[in-house]
Amino acid sequence: MREMHYKNTSLHGELKVPGDKSISHRAIMFGAVANGVTTIDGFLLGDDCLSTVDCFRKMGVQISIEDEQVTVIGKGWDGLKEPIDILDVGNSGTTTRLMLGILAGRPIHAVIIGDESIAKRPMKRVTDPLREMNASIDGREGGQYTPLSIRGGNLQNITYTSPVASAQVKSAILLAGIQTKGITTVIEPETSRDHTERMIRQFGGAVEVHNQKVAVRGPQNLTATHISVPGDISSAAFFLVAGAITPSSSITLHHVGLNPTRNGIIRVLEKMGAKMEIVEENVSEGAEPIGSITISTSTLKGITVGGEIIPTLIDEIPIIALLATQASGETIIKDAEELKVKETNRIDSVVSQLKKLGANIEATDDGMKIIGPTNLHGAEVESFHDHRIGMMLSIASFISETPIHLKNPDAISVSYPNFFRDLESLLT
Ligand code: S3P
Repeated sequence: MREMHYKNTSLHGELKVPGDKSISHRAIMFGAVANGVTTIDGFLLGDDCLSTVDCFRKMGVQISIEDEQVTVIGKGWDGLKEPIDILDVGNSGTTTRLMLGILAGRPIHAVIIGDESIAKRPMKRVTDPLREMNASIDGREGGQYTPLSIRGGNLQNITYTSPVASAQVKSAILLAGIQTKGITTVIEPETSRDHTERMIRQFGGAVEVHNQKVAVRGPQNLTATHISVPGDISSAAFFLVAGAITPSSSITLHHVGLNPTRNGIIRVLEKMGAKMEIVEENVSEGAEPIGSITISTSTLKGITVGGEIIPTLIDEIPIIALLATQASGETIIKDAEELKVKETNRIDSVVSQLKKLGANIEATDDGMKIIGPTNLHGAEVESFHDHRIGMMLSIASFISETPIHLKNPDAISVSYPNFFRDLESLLT
């Protein structure tokens, strides 16, 4: 249990948030199957990415970590060895789904397990198309849930129309397709984050993108490279909201990833009226866009968030809900059913915990409705072992009249191990 009460403090100063979780996972995976030595800087040393490191080490890949500098010795696709131990993905959906895509093309057997939350997350969205490609996969409830076992190899290319806009689904199929003869195509209902597509190119591969249609022609060998991981905009989001809702505050976040398939939170803050300034940095061609963002205490108004912006801010919806409690009028979040299958059912966890703090918030079938502004007060709240719920409730303590007691704050280390240290560095 952590007691927090930051009311009457304001936030000032500068911060560099830790590395992007999605890009850190991918850098390890691509490095593991490329030929040569991949170096990564700005790697996120969070529990999820360390689960990816652990799984690939179990498949014989040499990975060394010194601070946020990582070296991966890749020996090509065939360098992955049949693991003698179970691959434990911990709490990480990205590890599970992307690794399944890689393993689908490998003629080896592997067993995947994870924690209690992973055991509830739907896997048929990847195991079905990978089976269609010929991978042999079994698992609980016909391959819907972990534990899963997979024996890959001899894949058949497919064209897959995904019912969900999910980068994990798209990436799993692309990682299988890139090992498969012919053209493998994924068509999405909306564009999801494109880090995999960018990384295929950074590792010397080719991928074609036409709106929501992404295609790879396989088989392709990848070549080791250097990856510089930008700060995670999904981690920055907690401080952006803290800066906007806390009186007399102004903070600058440096080196934040600004990939347009991830930056929906910036567009939402702008539309709600946040005082914000963004300075983009120059990056080499093909690299992820980065920049610094300054945000100050703002007068906010409610808006509707839905449609194609949703995949670009899906992980930020818990903190957008808190932001909306401080905006005048109604905020509607819709088209966000995917929230139900995250680390927790994030419609239920956000609504139930913000209600305890006094928010005027209701769940809907595909999102939530919030009416603001409301004065929040303290209560005993619960992260439900979901890192983003834990961080959102911690930020609520900047505007809560009385202390907030957060149960299970440790979950935050999944994506932001030094969250409280960084938060306290901005207090004045
Ligand atoms: C991720 C994609 C998203 C996101 C998750 C990371 C990724 O999940 O919520 O935190 O790295 O590809 P979905 O693909 O399920 O939308």
